[in-house]
Amino acid sequence: MSLLSIFKKEKHKPKIQIKPISVECEIESNKTILQSLLDQGIQFPHNCRVGSCTTCASKLIEGKVKELTDKAFVLSEEQLKENYILVCQSIPKSEFLVIENQKLQQKEEKIPAKIIEKKLLTHDIIELTILLEEPVFYKAGQYINFIFDWLDRPRSYSMANRPNSKGTKQLKFFIRHVPKGKFTEWLFNLKDIEIEFYVSQPEGNFYLRNSTKPMILIAGGSGLSPIYSILEDIIFNQDLEINKKQILRDVVLLFGVRTQKDLYKIEELENFKNYWKGKFEIIPVLSEEKDSDWKGKTGFVHEILDQLPNISNSQLYMCGPPIMIDKCIEVAQKHGLSSNEIYFDKFTDSSHIIKV
Ligand code: FES
Repeated sequence: MSLLSIFKKEKHKPKIQIKPISVECEIESNKTILQSLLDQGIQFPHNCRVGSCTTCASKLIEGKVKELTDKAFVLSEEQLKENYILVCQSIPKSEFLVIENQKLQQKEEKIPAKIIEKKLLTHDIIELTILLEEPVFYKAGQYINFIFDWLDRPRSYSMANRPNSKGTKQLKFFIRHVPKGKFTEWLFNLKDIEIEFYVSQPEGNFYLRNSTKPMILIAGGSGLSPIYSILEDIIFNQDLEINKKQILRDVVLLFGVRTQKDLYKIEELENFKNYWKGKFEIIPVLSEEKDSDWKGKTGFVHEILDQLPNISNSQLYMCGPPIMIDKCIEVAQKHGLSSNEIYFDKFTDSSHIIKV
């Protein structure tokens, strides 16, 4: 055995100290910090695992990391100044790190909920309605965690209906069936709908920012949920002063699905045009439609985004799979759109989790 291989074998793994709980452990140098912690059974706050939800955002007090995605899109200015990192997107780059996440000390608030309706929207998307025991307050675009004691982790879904300023007890979601996904397999086969479970308080930083700029909205599949909630909120919550201005903005909605049979809520979206005061355009984009009577757009949403005028002067809101969002960010930045005007919610199932 060469001296070099002995040396390599003896190289120590990086260590991490987690505050405010007193945990100190070794982590792998070729995995995200989150993955290393979860592998050791440490229940660190997380959700999407793709750098979108910010649940894992923690203050880096000591040490260095390599970041896999650009956190500037999702963290606030204050968090960036305070050296926050996304633990699910950070690989250790020094021998010793100290991070702090105040959520580790907070007790999760659980609200009793019950499924009250399940409606098929397409062959693999349902509209699920749940009723909460107490009202929640949320911004259109945010999500909530579904907590079932038989699931290893909560499942996050964005509300599709608009919030009520006095609090909302009835929430709707567009949920796609994930083949072999433990939760959605169960949900889609569910016969008795009066199932009781818990939800978290609403969370997330995907919501509409006050602006007069045109909006480009991009939804992939069931990613229409938060976008639908945002539009419904603007149109039907006109008692809110802010919405009186938002409804004047020009809107283009790119709705990406595979084939015509995956489209849903198109009639309702078309109906939104009757209320909207700016321009309102809906462009369904089909990525796998072949040899059919379809006269609309085909291809991927980022290709259609590339053809839109005035991108650099717009605000971009996107919800869908990580690959769709990453491609659209590339296109938007190529057109000169500032990252301050790009907002997204990447939704994930286990197939989207980054392996490094
Ligand atoms: S778990 Fe890290 S950003 Fe969502």
